[in-house]
Amino acid sequence: MNHFDYRDGVMHAEDVALPAIAEAVGTPVYVYSTATFRRHAQVFRDALKPAGRVHLAYAIKANPNVAVLRVLADEGYGADVVSAGEMQRALAAGIPASDIVFSGVGKTRGELAQALDAGIGQFNLELEEEGEVLAALAHARGERAPAVLRVNPDVDAGTHAKISTGRKENKFGVAIDQAVAMFDRLSKHDGLDLRGVAIHIGSQLADLAPLEAAYARIGELVAELRAAGHRISRVDLGGGLGVPYKPGDVLPSPADYGAMVARATADWDVELMFEPGRVIAGNAGVLLTEVIWVKPGVVNPYVIVDAAMNDLARVAMYDAYHDFVAVAPTGERMMANIAGPVCETGDTFAMGRDIDAVKSGDLGVFRTAGAYGATMASTYNSRALVPEVLVDGDRFAVVADRIHPETILAAERVPEWLKR
Ligand code: LLP
Repeated sequence: MNHFDYRDGVMHAEDVALPAIAEAVGTPVYVYSTATFRRHAQVFRDALKPAGRVHLAYAIKANPNVAVLRVLADEGYGADVVSAGEMQRALAAGIPASDIVFSGVGKTRGELAQALDAGIGQFNLELEEEGEVLAALAHARGERAPAVLRVNPDVDAGTHAKISTGRKENKFGVAIDQAVAMFDRLSKHDGLDLRGVAIHIGSQLADLAPLEAAYARIGELVAELRAAGHRISRVDLGGGLGVPYKPGDVLPSPADYGAMVARATADWDVELMFEPGRVIAGNAGVLLTEVIWVKPGVVNPYVIVDAAMNDLARVAMYDAYHDFVAVAPTGERMMANIAGPVCETGDTFAMGRDIDAVKSGDLGVFRTAGAYGATMASTYNSRALVPEVLVDGDRFAVVADRIHPETILAAERVPEWLKR
């Protein structure tokens, strides 16, 4: 459920009509709904009640805007971060360091040191050498770094290959059959407090079966680790739950997921950690855009909008589907292609789609753009970096400015020898 609905024929974000935002801020612009973020945070938390002791760390890569993080911090969420930059954002939003989990396959030595200094709650180790380096850094500080070992369960998550992470050929985690031996070696380091294991098998998962299979393997691993004498107090089950993008899509609900987790982990006796991203943020945002032209085409007309692949990369990168609707639909329909202004055929959001009829100057939105939208934006074709607006009831605020091409140009330099 989300709070982007039509009132008197005009789409609103909560109590704010989208044309008012377009008027004040211009387009393209991402628009987020606070009430939707809060609702998703609460639904996900409630869904996991049957699973017992739970720690929720929002995967901030999905939408790292600091105002969004503040809302989720208010809802009691910690953060899953994958870089020092994300860690700084989480801290800036007021998320306690002890509620931050540091994931990521390429944490630098500098980032490990920074995270130790900040006192973050958990390091998710991706390889043995990382554990050794972290242990040495912590030992030198007279500390023990809280950590878990990420394992690769070799499960096909059944999602797009580019966002699949749990197959043995993927770069993530350590092979599950090497995990016990590695745990034995790493747990001997004074600088490391190795508490358990982690997995994350992929994103936009539309089926719970691969997750359940992966969790079963983790359950066996926990039993083996305990049999080998290790104290296992935490298991991090990652993120990955998918959301509906197309009208009519049916996905497992957070409640279905929670019931599966409760069943799969019933006898683990650990604190369970979760790293949800998309399920919290996806439907909490839209990308608001204006139609520049309707260009006649050979088969269908091209609706050329002022948002492009640099603003919303998911279609070009993962062949993703984002629903497009008019902000003030007339009731008429048209068959059209939808594309942005960037000079690539890849800058196409839809081909041959039945959409609300639109003309130049009309506003439309791409739905389900709250996750992996603005955060993946670029300035390709020297376009502005897209701004973000947060709505709360009948008020709204710009929570990320539009970064204009002049600002970006001002940060570039022509070296002396090229000046004339
Ligand atoms: N934890 C880890 C270790 C992850 O790598 C990810 C996502 C998450 C949690 C959160 O997963 P979620 O609940 O959002 O599925 N840019 C892609 C998605 C990349 C996901 C990467 N890892 C997209 O737009 O579909």
